[in-house]
Amino acid sequence: MVVPLPLLRRLAELQAWRRSLGEPPVLVPTMGALHGAHGDLIAAAAATGRPVLVTVFVNRIQFGPGEDFDRYPRSLDADRALAAAAGATALWAPAEADLYPLGPDGHLQLEPPLPLVRHLCGPGRPGHFRGVATVVSRLLALSGATTLVLGEKDWQQLQVLRAMVRDLGLPVRLLPCPTRRGPDGLPFSSRNSYLSEAERQQAAALPRALAAAAAAGRAGRQDGAGLEDQVRHDLEQAGLQVEYVQLVDPLLLQPLDQLRSLGLLAAAVRCGTTRLIDHRSLMTRAPIVAIDGPAGAGKSTVTRAVARQLGLIHLDTGAMYRAVTWWLQRRGLAPQEGPELQAALEGCGLRLEPRGDREQEVLIGGVTVTEAIRTAEVTAAVSTVAALPGVRTYLTALQRRYGETGGVVAEGRDIGTAVFPDAELKIFLTASVAERVRRRQADLQERGLPVPAAEQLTLEIEDRDTRDAGRAVAPLRRADDAVELVSDGLTIDAVVERIVDLFRERVPVEALLRAGGEPPAP
Ligand code: PAF
Repeated sequence: MVVPLPLLRRLAELQAWRRSLGEPPVLVPTMGALHGAHGDLIAAAAATGRPVLVTVFVNRIQFGPGEDFDRYPRSLDADRALAAAAGATALWAPAEADLYPLGPDGHLQLEPPLPLVRHLCGPGRPGHFRGVATVVSRLLALSGATTLVLGEKDWQQLQVLRAMVRDLGLPVRLLPCPTRRGPDGLPFSSRNSYLSEAERQQAAALPRALAAAAAAGRAGRQDGAGLEDQVRHDLEQAGLQVEYVQLVDPLLLQPLDQLRSLGLLAAAVRCGTTRLIDHRSLMTRAPIVAIDGPAGAGKSTVTRAVARQLGLIHLDTGAMYRAVTWWLQRRGLAPQEGPELQAALEGCGLRLEPRGDREQEVLIGGVTVTEAIRTAEVTAAVSTVAALPGVRTYLTALQRRYGETGGVVAEGRDIGTAVFPDAELKIFLTASVAERVRRRQADLQERGLPVPAAEQLTLEIEDRDTRDAGRAVAPLRRADDAVELVSDGLTIDAVVERIVDLFRERVPVEALLRAGGEPPAP
């Protein structure tokens, strides 16, 4: 016998359900009329292995006057069946009086940051994002959920809700899912049910126009106005009424005059009486993550794990410095500037080759040296070699060449400042000296090596920091737009999760997939 999905109506029912759980639920907020894209959200929530609460609530306060609140499709029985099939644990369909017992006006309303609503849907739907933030904050508070699953189709909504979670310091993790599209390219949306057959065909011009602009972007058309005009022209040709077409920065949602590495080209149209939105990520290359920070902050382990999670290549710059050091040692050369160094660099034929596990083999003169460069002799000399301006210039150029098409996660001390200053995400990963001393001691102990006193290691680490920050060439410093992450008290997994989340804020999953990456695991 199939047990129907629990349907919770009143607040008391929700509260009793919550008490029956051993852990906080994952929330999938919807307005009902569920379809395949909602199914994807529910399945992603279920993949976390935690209880999944789907909510169905048509939220009056996010609709403007004259919008479709009254005719918004309502189909609770079908929603319940779809939610159950997709892996939900319960469906909560509250009455307005449960969510807003004092009436919507009697409750705190959350005003989104102005820059996030100044463009795209903001001007045409005043108050809409306030209504969305307000209802989602109520749903989170009442359900006690600590994970929130949302679709990337409503990218602006996603950024507003991210700002809400961040600014209110909510203990909530946001899990975005890529847009699901029909065979004609149109994104799944409950509002598609308003379209007649003929209108549906006409509406397919929206994803087509955005895809054509993306192709033009790849072919070199990079001025924002040119790309927007092209889309507008195509939409008007198809008889759609254009509300806006805008190229924006995906994180800040501010207009871009020029497509640099990644932009979000978004549009809203009317097809008959139906308002439709869609967007497309435009890229001139695949995304890049740059991770800098002082020695001993855990950069190498974290960088490797982030690359694996995102399905991008780990550009092991440390291995490149090791390879040059090994090469100089093999040739019996002292680590110093001069014509001999130049000749050695020109002749070393350093190459990286994909190994199939997101890591790369290191080759010198066609010979694999990935393991050979890990000797104690190389370790002892690599920081002196890495400080030579000639080596720095040679390897920076080589690293840039490897990063030209993007798709890499790289770590170092000048990756975000000198090598990839236009990386989509720059992290400055650091930890207090005391924490780094503790980690170093634990590491030495684990390897059965002598463990120096904390005082001695403190002096060594402080001295290394001062030298790294004061170098004439490639000093260690945080890029102005880097996110500082202090890893004290955090596990490696927690640091990696934080970096993956920061990446998701800046790079839609859709863009990552197009770039050959993988959707990060929930
Ligand atoms: O995206 C939606 O369906 C709604 O805006 C949401 C997030 C459920 C809030 O009502």
